[in-house]
Amino acid sequence: MSTLRLDDLKQYSDTLRTRHGGVLTVRFVEPRDTDELQHYFRSLSSRSRYNRFFGALSELPKALLHDFTHVGERERFSVIATMMVDGFETIVGEARYAFHAETSTFEFGLSVDDRWQGHGIGTALLRNLECRAAAFGAEHIFGDTLRSNDVMISLARKSGFAFINHPDDWKLVRFDKEIAVEPKDIPCASWRLAALSRQAESPSATA
Ligand SMILES: CC(C)(COP(=O)(O)OP(=O)(O)OC[C@H]1O[C@@H](n2cnc3c(N)ncnc32)[C@H](O)[C@@H]1OP(=O)(O)O)[C@@H](O)C(=O)NCCC(=O)NCCS
Repeated sequence: MSTLRLDDLKQYSDTLRTRHGGVLTVRFVEPRDTDELQHYFRSLSSRSRYNRFFGALSELPKALLHDFTHVGERERFSVIATMMVDGFETIVGEARYAFHAETSTFEFGLSVDDRWQGHGIGTALLRNLECRAAAFGAEHIFGDTLRSNDVMISLARKSGFAFINHPDDWKLVRFDKEIAVEPKDIPCASWRLAALSRQAESPSATA
């Protein structure tokens, strides 16, 4: 998105709520988060890591860790969801997304720390990703998951996604949702502003 200020990523932080009202901050990953992010992935159960990356990884390979911590390169972005736990900002979830301008689609993957699963963090993060997709002007938001991943399939279904076969891999299922929200109606303040300024710069963008 041309109006995203990569030199000042802090302005794009969002405050969300868990199911029981806990405060969740969603912000872009910064290079200073490298160790903490690697620690987060190492601490996931092997099942969660397998579901997230469709393969057995014990941690993020170096090149992928670099990609995760260099937000905006090749229109790919990583965010972390953090909570204050015992006075420390703690990563409880993450998502990585890409905007494919040629198809006006927004693709994402996400995970939540095993200890925090079932608290509504995945639901809140997914809603926030929908705002981010709308701010890009995406017409569809989609993700892929293993057919065996009942939790992700249930989350996607409850969030209004439809399911289609993955084009290349029979083990995966793709969940997809049309984005039909005007920039002025985006329900996340920072992303509504980003979308409106994008619209002002390029009025035809949402025509
Ligand atoms: C999928 C994932 C992100 C969901 O996050 P979460 O924070 O646990 O999700 P929520 O608490 O918002 O729950 C959302 C829905 O998922 C389903 N769900 C959650 N935990 C579940 C469980 N243990 N068993 C079955 N369904 C479950 C429920 O339908 C739930 O909705 P409900 O509480 O209204 O019934 C999380 O389980 C995860 O990180 N898994 C490992 C990585 C992964 O699978 N990523 C997806 C591929 S990209």
